[in-house]
Amino acid sequence: MNDVLQQISNIGIIPVIAIEDAEQAVPLARALVAGGLPAAEVTFRTAAGEEAIRRIAKEVPEMLVGAGTVLTKEQADRALAAGAQFIVSPGFNPEVTRYVIEKGALMMPGTATPGEMEQAMSMGLDVVKFFPAEQNGGVAKLKALAGPYTNLRWMPTGGVNTKNMMDYLGFDKIVACGGTWVGKKDLINGQKWDEITAICKDAVKTMLGFELRHVGINCADEAEAERTAQMFSTVFGWEYKPGNSSVFSGTAVECMKTPYLGERGHIAVGTNNVDRAMYHLGLHGITFDESTRKTDAKGKTKAIYLKDSFCGFAVHLVQK
Ligand code: 3PG
Repeated sequence: MNDVLQQISNIGIIPVIAIEDAEQAVPLARALVAGGLPAAEVTFRTAAGEEAIRRIAKEVPEMLVGAGTVLTKEQADRALAAGAQFIVSPGFNPEVTRYVIEKGALMMPGTATPGEMEQAMSMGLDVVKFFPAEQNGGVAKLKALAGPYTNLRWMPTGGVNTKNMMDYLGFDKIVACGGTWVGKKDLINGQKWDEITAICKDAVKTMLGFELRHVGINCADEAEAERTAQMFSTVFGWEYKPGNSSVFSGTAVECMKTPYLGERGHIAVGTNNVDRAMYHLGLHGITFDESTRKTDAKGKTKAIYLKDSFCGFAVHLVQK
């Protein structure tokens, strides 16, 4: 995957921003970064868009900044010169799309129909914007299109918000969701940076969906693991499930046959997307023990331990 696309996928939510006053660009970018979303598609809908991109690219380098609503080659040139790392358009304009591809930049043209998607694919693209997503049939339409277009992936925008974004992000052909809901115009104009940060944090929390999955108990040996799991199953009526290295009682208790990671045991935290969770936790300085990474056939991470333990408990992320 292209580097910029990989970042877009890791971040998961791309704020679509219309800035009316370039002075607001940097504080806005900092509010988004503080909320865990270091990305913005700054639209050319406003005259200040180009200058906003320039200021963000220069002053908030940790931010991935792209240009949206790019309708002409001339706008694409201005956006790239200002520092845009990707270009997005609302519709599929073959001329502009080809131009940006030839310049070597990441282009995500808006598409809504199979015909537009095929044209984009014929230019070598395997990720396109789906716009306006909700009005065009939402994720149900994309699931139908994924049948014939096996290699195509989408960034839906238009009507997406914290309440419905998981409908999209739960489908593995979705690279990220975009939208204005995390950086509404009235909040930007009112300089309500803390509110924007809070909306971003809430969206990230919903996207990652952390929840306790199971507790792992380090038993001394196989016999103790079986006895302990049996006790839980007898007392609470949970299913007794022997496995290779551990015995589960239901889904909440895992009794290890030999002491495993964590002095006292381990705690498994489920998430909607382990790779994305690793990226977001990484923004807070959390590191992972690569030797424990488990992946599926497509290379998606299914489980991985954090390097640090919590009060004697090792902690691992697991795909929900
Ligand atoms: C876009 O350009 O992607 C849309 O304006 C975003 O749509 P929304 O305002 O419904 O999020």
